[in-house]
Amino acid sequence: MVRINENYDKLASSYLFPEIARRTKNFSEKNSGVKILRLGIGNTTEPLTPTVIKGLKSGVEKLADVKTYTGYGDEQGDLRLRKAICELYARLGVSLEHDEVFVSDGAKPDSANIQSIFNTASVIAVQDPAYPVYVDSNVIGGHTGKANGVVYEKIVYMPCNEENGFFPQVPKEKVDLIYLCSPNNPTGAVATKEQLKGFVDYATKNKAIIIFDSAYSSYISDKSLPKSIYEISGAKDCAIEINSFSKSAGFTGVRLGWCIVPKNLIAEDAPFGKINSLWNRRQTTMFNGASNIAQEGGLAALTEEGLQENQGIIEYYMENARIIHSALSEMGLKVYGGINAPYLWVKTPNNMKSWEFFDKMLSEAHVVITPGSGFGPSGEGYFRVSAFGHRENIVEAVNNIKNNLKI
Ligand SMILES: Cc1ncc(COP(=O)(O)O)c(C=O)c1O
Repeated sequence: MVRINENYDKLASSYLFPEIARRTKNFSEKNSGVKILRLGIGNTTEPLTPTVIKGLKSGVEKLADVKTYTGYGDEQGDLRLRKAICELYARLGVSLEHDEVFVSDGAKPDSANIQSIFNTASVIAVQDPAYPVYVDSNVIGGHTGKANGVVYEKIVYMPCNEENGFFPQVPKEKVDLIYLCSPNNPTGAVATKEQLKGFVDYATKNKAIIIFDSAYSSYISDKSLPKSIYEISGAKDCAIEINSFSKSAGFTGVRLGWCIVPKNLIAEDAPFGKINSLWNRRQTTMFNGASNIAQEGGLAALTEEGLQENQGIIEYYMENARIIHSALSEMGLKVYGGINAPYLWVKTPNNMKSWEFFDKMLSEAHVVITPGSGFGPSGEGYFRVSAFGHRENIVEAVNNIKNNLKI
């Protein structure tokens, strides 16, 4: 008789977003006519730029003509796009070969799938709080033990809190795979070069591999902060980097990302080039390449005009972040992040629990936020506010909070 992958049963129920939806619906039903404003979701809202639209249209038009039509492309991505991504890294002083770049349908699938090329006995370390995909994909892949309350056995949680500026110390124990996200979802903290160097040194010493999620790197405006882990010397020997067009170019619905797997990476049983070839094997077996239309859009996004136009949208979201930051700070709340990242991480007043404060915010200000506890145990007592949204909605939500939230 067929049996299921029992690891799925280990997953603590995906509580966060369904529970937010349930409580919001409940409130709406009891308070019909009340307008609810959302500061909870990390989804882009502003339209694609003219250059990107032109690129996408050219992708569509190529498909209309027998002379330019293409079917399946290279699973690793269009060579022109892989080269354009290498050029993007070259601006940061990072040199990559195009066969170290794997174009994908987004950073979420890559960050979920990457664990599959590593041994199930690998010990995983995650920042706490963290983007939930890192933990859940490792649960499904059989890299963890059972859920024990809010944590899983065999995962090393690296607390990120006020004391360490929301960036963790390197683990005390020996771990094999380390997930780092900077700029961070949910805390909005950005690792400094020194902080990343600490992890690169740890990984080199312990023969560990860092999975570095830089999906929000384009939100960094402080020139001293690294946008890529490869800005740290030695990182190409120990780090995989995952990035996306979702937040830098509004491709959340278009779907396009990339993963850098340097040939220099080694594992106990994998010599030079092997990890790169395993990811190539995984992608060529289980993925048929990103959409050719999306890739034309991605190529356009990486042109000078595309980058400049998208910078304008990033600045628009960051102005939202400033509006939220100053309003919440003026109310006496402790606000973190939101400076080089589109997320603000806010301490609940009077030591309220995250969900308790969620309910208070919804009932008093009619604003939906994301409870920090949904991102890991160290998120308890915080909430995440997203700067993605139309300005008028952001301003209205902030005014509701200022006028109606009792703290
Ligand atoms: C840290 C992080 N990584 C990856 C993603 C997903 O990116 P993509 O849309 O490219 O799948 C998100 C989306 O919210 C994210 O917050």
